[in-house]
Amino acid sequence: MAMNVTELKGRIPNEILESLEERGIKRLNEPQELAINSELLLGKNIVIASPTASGKTLIAELAMLRTVITMRKKAVYVAPMRALASEKYEEFKSSYPYLKVALSIGDLDSLDNWLANYDIIFVSTEKFDSLIRHGIEWIHSLGCVVIDEVHMLDDLNRGPTLEILITKLRRYCKGAQIVALSATIGNADEIADWLDARLVMSEYRPVKLKKGIVLNNKVHYEDEEESLGGASMIPEIRVAEDVIEKNKQILIFYSTKRNTEAGAEKLKKVISRMIDSKSKEKLNEIADKVLNSLSRPTTQCEKLSDAIRHGVAFHHSGLVNEQRKLVEDAFKNNLIKVICSTTTLGYGVNMPAHTVLVRDTSRYSGGQGAEKLGINEVTQLFGRAGRPKYDTEGRALLLAKYREEIMELYGTYMNSRLDPINSKLGVLPILRSHLLAFIATDFLNSKEAISNFFNETFYGHQYSNIREINRNIDKILDELQGWGFIEKAGSQYGATKIGKRISELYIDPLTGRFIIECLWKERDEIADLFMIANTMEMRPYVKVTEEAEERFLFYQNLISDETLERSMDNYELGYYDPLKPFSTALMLHEWIDEAGEPLIVKKYGTTPGALYSKITNADWLMYAATEIAKLMKAKQTKLLEIRVRMRYGIKRELLDLVRLKGVGRVRARMMFGNGIKRVSDLRTQEAQATITKLFGKDISSKIIEQLPEMG
Ligand SMILES: Nc1ncnc2c1ncn2[C@@H]1O[C@H](COP(=O)(O)OP(=O)(O)OP(=O)(O)O)[C@@H](O)[C@H]1O
Ligand SMILES: [Mg+2]
Repeated sequence: MAMNVTELKGRIPNEILESLEERGIKRLNEPQELAINSELLLGKNIVIASPTASGKTLIAELAMLRTVITMRKKAVYVAPMRALASEKYEEFKSSYPYLKVALSIGDLDSLDNWLANYDIIFVSTEKFDSLIRHGIEWIHSLGCVVIDEVHMLDDLNRGPTLEILITKLRRYCKGAQIVALSATIGNADEIADWLDARLVMSEYRPVKLKKGIVLNNKVHYEDEEESLGGASMIPEIRVAEDVIEKNKQILIFYSTKRNTEAGAEKLKKVISRMIDSKSKEKLNEIADKVLNSLSRPTTQCEKLSDAIRHGVAFHHSGLVNEQRKLVEDAFKNNLIKVICSTTTLGYGVNMPAHTVLVRDTSRYSGGQGAEKLGINEVTQLFGRAGRPKYDTEGRALLLAKYREEIMELYGTYMNSRLDPINSKLGVLPILRSHLLAFIATDFLNSKEAISNFFNETFYGHQYSNIREINRNIDKILDELQGWGFIEKAGSQYGATKIGKRISELYIDPLTGRFIIECLWKERDEIADLFMIANTMEMRPYVKVTEEAEERFLFYQNLISDETLERSMDNYELGYYDPLKPFSTALMLHEWIDEAGEPLIVKKYGTTPGALYSKITNADWLMYAATEIAKLMKAKQTKLLEIRVRMRYGIKRELLDLVRLKGVGRVRARMMFGNGIKRVSDLRTQEAQATITKLFGKDISSKIIEQLPEMG
């Protein structure tokens, strides 16, 4: 069964036909044809359940383009990972240069009014939810919503927000078409039922994927064996050598950011020898860009750029967007041969990886210790190998440690059925945040309305009894009222000014509550930092140091009994011990006290990547704290100051100098040490000569250039 694209003439806008022709797509495959037969082009809701690489994006594309061109409405594409949203955005932009296509995955406290002028908008789940909280007008002109990777509903961290987003959208835009896509749902019929959608199921696979298990330098497939090329005795290096000898590329999945970095470190020495000098030149250029994507390169930037020089990279959520894109593009251009990644590259993306190796099949999770990856997740990771655009065959591998494990792994991951996905909406802190948002946006204002809404969620659909959720709703509403975030008049709730702001800031109400409690207390710098560290958003916390144990005594009065009790309630997310966030606050304090990064990393048992993402989160929370202080008419100057210090990792005395572009932690300290303590000190010839000596001509003249506008 294969439908010629030309048969679609008259049923879809000509623009699509032209674009398909240009991209060399002549026939629709089975799932695509089934989708059309299910009245995709008449605007019906559709759930597509078909294997990885089976061309689900094209189905979404047809629906979105029909909406924009024929119906003259807007379409939104929602992806759970930012890497995926931006990849699809780039693809669309180049296929349809004349359409107004936008990408919005950033700042969560912004209305992004400019989006109103665009026809197709690519967003991350959280960004879309936050846009709705800010009250975007264009939501009413939405004609089509694509939910990619809809199995994410099952994810403890991201699922609940996705589920609420979908349920909300179905209310806000009643007529809008929903197209939900996934390669891994065992109970697709249940999802389709929930969404009043037609179900398209297909087993179509465009590329042959050979699945095997590696032991003793051999790959064991179901009915044959293959000896690996290369020479290393370390399995993942051996596999990488084998792939590069075949002139191909490989993606290796690890369970943690730290492991990806360590993996790249190990691989680079061996891989380096396999790369020609011409490629190395180009790799060096990319490595330099990666090194300079931040005003002050962190150890992580150094590690990454160093690995890239050798043709290897790591990829995880701690990379800044620019670095992420540089790595992805260099892999697509066949310069980087190996990427060591967390699951950030595990869903939906099209990469030229001939081989995928899932190195870790278990992962450390919060309080529960090691947890095995499920079949659905491994199937997704495997699906990154052998994408049709790049290969005609792919190879997906796992590692066994001993012979008996081969059978075990086969049984678990190779031939078994996909798992059903289940709603994770029961999780308390997430409900708390959404309930406040419902009321703050005047979307739902009574207990009854909220309860009805939950009946419409996937949770309500799966468990017809929502008594437990109703109990939680009661509890949360009382709590939000007690904290002064909502008010009740008769049976109607309304948000207070502060409640509305907290909802917009996209922080957990409990975080808002704790910040407010602290704002009125006597605080030093450590207390300021504890105010933002003792929150959901800063999890996972770092190791508890002895120093933290000793000093906590002087700060424990910041936590009220109620906050303590509420924090304990979040048991789904792991055991709460106030010493942990306190230790995290001490770590941030060392950072703004200019302690060296290697020392901090060692002392708090963390990694440069994790430290960097903590600082980014802390920056956001400090912004939120300042906004709350403004509204409560509490003092905010000190908070603003700490925020800047945190961004640069500097003591107070360097604050004036970092106003200069190109001056960060290191350069400011050098200037200060040489008697240049304020920007105004740079006005003398002597000072200018000093920095020229310190930083060289290029950098110093860029600094001096800025003086006239600095007042
Ligand atoms: N009918 C077709 N003919 C030829 N190539 C196609 C066709 N449909 C899609 N493709 C190509 O197949 C590749 C994979 O498609 P896509 O990314 O949509 O897969 P997917 O089903 O979304 O997989 P995943 O579940 O991994 O996200 C793309 O490069 C796409 O251009
Ligand atoms: Mg996809």
